[in-house]
Amino acid sequence: MDIYSNPQLYDSIHANYKWDYKLIKSFAKKYKGPVLELASGTGRLAYPIIKLGLDYTGLELSKDFLKLANSKLGNKGNFIFGDMRKFNLESNFDFIFIGFNSFLHNLTIADAKSCLKCVLSHLSPKGKFLLSIFVPDPEFLYRDANKLYPATDFFQFENSQCRILETNDYDPGTQINKLTWYIEKNGKMDLKKYNYSMRMFYPHEMDILFQEEGFIIEDKFGNYDLSPLGQECDMQIYLCRKQ
Ligand SMILES: C[S@@+](CC[C@H](N)C(=O)[O-])C[C@H]1O[C@@H](n2cnc3c(N)ncnc32)[C@H](O)[C@@H]1O
Repeated sequence: MDIYSNPQLYDSIHANYKWDYKLIKSFAKKYKGPVLELASGTGRLAYPIIKLGLDYTGLELSKDFLKLANSKLGNKGNFIFGDMRKFNLESNFDFIFIGFNSFLHNLTIADAKSCLKCVLSHLSPKGKFLLSIFVPDPEFLYRDANKLYPATDFFQFENSQCRILETNDYDPGTQINKLTWYIEKNGKMDLKKYNYSMRMFYPHEMDILFQEEGFIIEDKFGNYDLSPLGQECDMQIYLCRKQ
């Protein structure tokens, strides 16, 4: 099963994931709307922006996720079906962002470039683009592919105490990490498997991609607390504008 086919499970897992709220909220407050989020999911990051009273549009590929986002926030935000690799909304935005590693669903350089091209063409002349992804971690990527590892803390889902266990298989040739998630419910493994893939992008690749696609990187951060990007950082967060 596709990991993005069960929005209730996604929301249960991420019910307490608020650590990127502050960052997204502070940039949205500074750069104002209209705001465009790519890969907006079930509206987790839409919520703090809409609360600021800004004009918000979210673009999302999963129809199931879109439906839940619309049912929660559809009267306050604009949630539309689309692919971050190819879209034309015929409008410009002062703040565009792709949060929570979603950019890693661009599985090839061609996809990543095509996504950045679309971002550029929707950015207003004074607009800012924020991208947040983790830094590839060899200790995570090169784990034993036959072993299950805990992927989340415990959370409540379908009246059970649950957690996610995962396997991963990384191909250094394609830089694609294939992940399989299993739900453990009240200590028992559920038989359903959820799959997803992410392409790893190293910071030097991001520098090249931004440069080639017409962006200027204004700032690079290594964490949600806005500390600078350095050797030991887990995150790579970029704030860009048009060249
Ligand atoms: C990690 S979730 C993040 C969702 C939301 N932004 C959040 O922070 O909770 C990744 C999202 O990317 C969406 N997605 C994957 N590929 C996409 C694409 N090509 N275009 C638009 N959305 C995509 C998935 O359906 C999923 O909702």
